[in-house]
Amino acid sequence: MPLTSPFTPGDLPRVLIGRVRERSRLGDLLARVTAYGEMAGPPVVLHAPRGLGKTSLLRDTEERARELGFVTAWVACAKSSPMLTELVSAVRRALVEADVLDDRARRGILESISVEFALFGVSLTTEFGRGDAPAEPPAGAISGLERVLHEAASTIRARGGAGLLVLIDELHAGPYAELGVLLNTVQNLAGRRSENPVAVMTAGLPSTPEMIMRAATFGERSEFIALDRFDESDASKVLVEPAAAYEIGWAADALVEALDIADGNPYLLQLVGDATWRAASPGAGGETLQLAHVHAGGEAMSGQLEAMCRARWDSASDLEQAFLAAMADFGKEVVPREHIATTMGRDSRAIRVPRARLIDRGIIEAAGRGRLRFTLPGMAAWIRDYQLG
Ligand SMILES: Nc1ncnc2c1ncn2[C@@H]1O[C@H](COP(=O)(O)OP(=O)(O)O)[C@@H](O)[C@H]1O
Ligand SMILES: [Mg+2]
Repeated sequence: MPLTSPFTPGDLPRVLIGRVRERSRLGDLLARVTAYGEMAGPPVVLHAPRGLGKTSLLRDTEERARELGFVTAWVACAKSSPMLTELVSAVRRALVEADVLDDRARRGILESISVEFALFGVSLTTEFGRGDAPAEPPAGAISGLERVLHEAASTIRARGGAGLLVLIDELHAGPYAELGVLLNTVQNLAGRRSENPVAVMTAGLPSTPEMIMRAATFGERSEFIALDRFDESDASKVLVEPAAAYEIGWAADALVEALDIADGNPYLLQLVGDATWRAASPGAGGETLQLAHVHAGGEAMSGQLEAMCRARWDSASDLEQAFLAAMADFGKEVVPREHIATTMGRDSRAIRVPRARLIDRGIIEAAGRGRLRFTLPGMAAWIRDYQLG
């Protein structure tokens, strides 16, 4: 019987590697709620392209918060689904499951949330009904959500819990108008911080900070935390540690090759680790993953990578595709802006819009002043092979 792969492409990691600074900061914010029973501060916004580990870090934070006695409510936003009613449902569910509440407390708080929720729901649907963003976020929705979060958090605290942690993933996909309500609500809660043992932590694509700043003037006070690719030391750990738990090692040249393919991208590290493991199909501890396994795994991986490259390419407009093609044409990882402008036959200022859109969607990223690179290692080669070839 071969050992099951410990790698988790597209899933929460079995072993969370690195992110030491970010975890420590998030831990400090939780500690503020725990120690003083007050609001953690402005909302946290983790932002990065896909596959960099935002969801993994949010889940890790959720788990740590639970150990500290928080009740946690999680929402993943999706296009065309309402964010705030889902948030309130998530808070309700969390309260139903919360260990700190006895039956009476639970009944009381759920009843009062139901009342708020009905009012809140009405003000959301009437004021958002036309589908376009109201000029001002509706006051009724703000005060409704504010009361729901306040009631939930203070009840949890009064019963001996730490407070309420609200987690919102994929925030960039949330309805823009609802984002205004959320930010205003959090701002109001912060105005009475000592009465609101709440922390709000969110994650989204690189477009999220700008979206937040547009949605509310004080949005810029949010705490923005960008997640980077892993450096070589953390990248090695992503490959080595899950295997080591089964006493499976990596040959030195195999590790170098795998690190080179993934280029510090957490998702690709998991993918290459998994593909290598399955090619090797180790049967017992003590075996070693070899360079030939990385190569054999690479073939299995390429279908997945191609699909990801194609999805990103197809999501781009004609102008954006021309931009991406000009980048791929350069042949080196880090591409100077002038090269793109020259290749496209345009003024450097004229390419600002496609550049900004591609960065917002996490397809490319800045790599120093006036330089860009693809966020997905291998994307340049794919474009050269399939689109320019
Ligand atoms: N700190 C980490 N340590 C190990 N693997 C990680 C880490 N962060 C993310 N990963 C892996 O990377 C992939 C993408 O992670 P995910 O959290 O879904 O990213 P995002 O939400 O930014 O798209 C997953 O396969 C996950 O297992
Ligand atoms: Mg995610």
